[in-house]
Order: sequence, then C-alpha cells, then structure tokens
Amino acid sequence: MNSPREALERGRELIEAAASTSELRAVEALAYGKKSALAKLTGTLRDLAPEERRELGKAVQEARAELEALFAERLMELEAREARRRAEQEQLDLSEAALLARAGTGALADSVPRPPIRGHTHLVTQVREELEDIFVSMGFEVAEGPEVEDDWHNFEALNMPAHHPARGMFDTFYLAVGEAESTLLRTHTSPVQVRLMESRQPPIYAVVPGRCYRRDTADATHLPVFHQIEGLVVDEGISMAHLAGTLDAFVGAFFGPGRRARLRPSFFPFTEPSAEYDVTCWVCAGAGCRTCGQSGWVELGGCGMVDPAVFQAVGVDPERYTGFAWGFGIDRMAAARAGLADLRDLLENDVRLLSQF
Ligand code: DAH
Repeated sequence: MNSPREALERGRELIEAAASTSELRAVEALAYGKKSALAKLTGTLRDLAPEERRELGKAVQEARAELEALFAERLMELEAREARRRAEQEQLDLSEAALLARAGTGALADSVPRPPIRGHTHLVTQVREELEDIFVSMGFEVAEGPEVEDDWHNFEALNMPAHHPARGMFDTFYLAVGEAESTLLRTHTSPVQVRLMESRQPPIYAVVPGRCYRRDTADATHLPVFHQIEGLVVDEGISMAHLAGTLDAFVGAFFGPGRRARLRPSFFPFTEPSAEYDVTCWVCAGAGCRTCGQSGWVELGGCGMVDPAVFQAVGVDPERYTGFAWGFGIDRMAAARAGLADLRDLLENDVRLLSQF
C-alpha cells in the first residue's frame, strides 16, 4: 500500500534521475504533481476518519514540501550546468568561425557565420605614431607641412640656390605648375624647418613626420615614396652635444638599449657641421649583407647644426640662436623593427606579411 514515505522516495528518485531541465520538468507531475503517488494519497483522504485524515494529510503535506524543495534545487543545478555548457559551446563556435573565415574557402566555411576580422594600421603608421610619442615625451611638438612644395622651401632657403650642385642628391619630381621647376613634390621634410622658423620666433622644439618623394628606383633600402621624421631645435646655447644626447635618448627609446649607433662626418648645405647617423644593420647584426651593402651599418639619415645661412634666410638672429636638426627615414626604422630585409615589402600590401605586425 502506498505510504507518504514511499511516495516521497519515488518522487526523489524521479527528480534525481532527471539529467536535464527539460527531463526534470517532464517528471514534475509524476514526482509530486497531479500524476504522483502523493496525489493518489490525497485522493484517499476524504474516505478516512478525521483523526487519520489529519495525520495522513500532514505527512502528505510534508512530503510534498520536501519534494518541491528538492525539485527547485535540482532545477538550479541543471540550469547552471546547461548555461556553462552553452558558454563553452559558443566559445568553440566563435574560434571555429574565425579559423574558417581566415581559411576563407570551402562549403563548411560558407555555412558558418563569419565574425568581422579587425584590421589595424600599417606598420609604417604604427612606427610614425610611436616616434611621435617618444619625441612628445621628450618635450617636442609635432608639426606638419605640405607635400607639394615650392623651390624656396625645399631648396633655396635651405642654402641650395638654383644650380647648386647639392640639388643633385635629390632626384626631384617637378610638377607642371607655374614657372618651370618652381613647384615640386618635397624631396625631404626639411622644408618644414623653414616654414616653422618663418612663422614664429625661437625657442622651437619640433618634430615633423611626413611623406617625401624622389625619382629613385625602388631597391632594398630606397623607395620613391618614403617617410621621414625631421627634428628641429632652435634656442639659445644649443650645441652639438645636445644633438648627440637627443639622438642617443631617442635611439635607446625606439630600438632598446642593445642597438649601436654612430655619427659619421658628412655634408649638407643646411647644416654645419653635418653628420650622417647610422645604426647597426638589423638583418646581419653588423656582419655585412645585401641590406647594408656589406658595411654592417644602415644609414638612418642626416643631421647637424643649423647653418647660419638658413637662419638668415628665415630671419632668425644667428648671433643669438643656434640649433640642430635631423631627418631620418621612418620606413627604415619600421623595417628594422620588423626585421625586414627589403623596404619594398612595406609597399606590396601582402596581408600575410602586414598582419604579423
Ligand atoms: N634632408 C636630408 C635628406 O633628406 C636629411 C637631413 C640632413 C635633414 C641634415 C636635416 C639635417 O634636418 O640637419 O637627405
């Protein structure tokens, strides 16, 4: 005969055996609801004597309360387990879809919704922004100038009058605008030095990143369209030691402490004295290779003390002020950072390469 204790046991077994929330909900009626042994017992109550009815009624109530509590507990447990499984499942789905999207082809790949692949800035842009950050942290401002320049800013004010032989080192793209050879694509960022000094009085502490153009054939270390970062400091009492210290601090911040660098005497019409700035070749570490022309060093650019003739051209008093300047190739620094042996890789836009940086 059916007792409250047996009904309780039967209900407990059903609840504990349910392996999912849907299975649990399906046994609710059998465990303690309408179709349960407890419900049958309740049906017998009205035929009992009052005393027995009260006693059995109480036992049935208690068993139902216990089963309800068990049911609620089991439901929470199963819901949590299923939520966990769903989360794991979704994680798996996502990575699978990303892999398939990268693989790009096949019937399976087509059937999976593809999450968008996030892009990022080009390596050269990343390096330009990092250089700006380094110099801003050293107290420099970031300035800009036009890529289409006039003869005055690109050459003449920089102590290279018409027919000056130094113009030969810049294979210039001229534009068919105005008088012949009066308008050009800037061959370096140095014209922005002129623009800065024309537009204000010292002190000036500025860096100028930007795009430059030369009629060069592209090779491992030259591009016809390339990027430079110019630096200009004009103040009272500025010496070559300030130049060397600034470049040291910058190279340490950008390349890390291990990199060797050297200043090599050179000539530029707009600096006196002038130097070229080299870093140890990042491909062969100094042993000599195609990238460094077997020298073990790669030239980053030129630098020097601003020539008094330039100060005179822009109306800065050379008796009162001195200054230094530099112009370095950003593409070469990007190649150094990435360990690229050939600058042309930066222009080919092969996503398999660029996505690595
Ligand atoms: N403008 C030069 C070039 O492109 C590099 C340069 C040399 C810039 C000396 C400077 C400098 O500011 O002082 O070859």
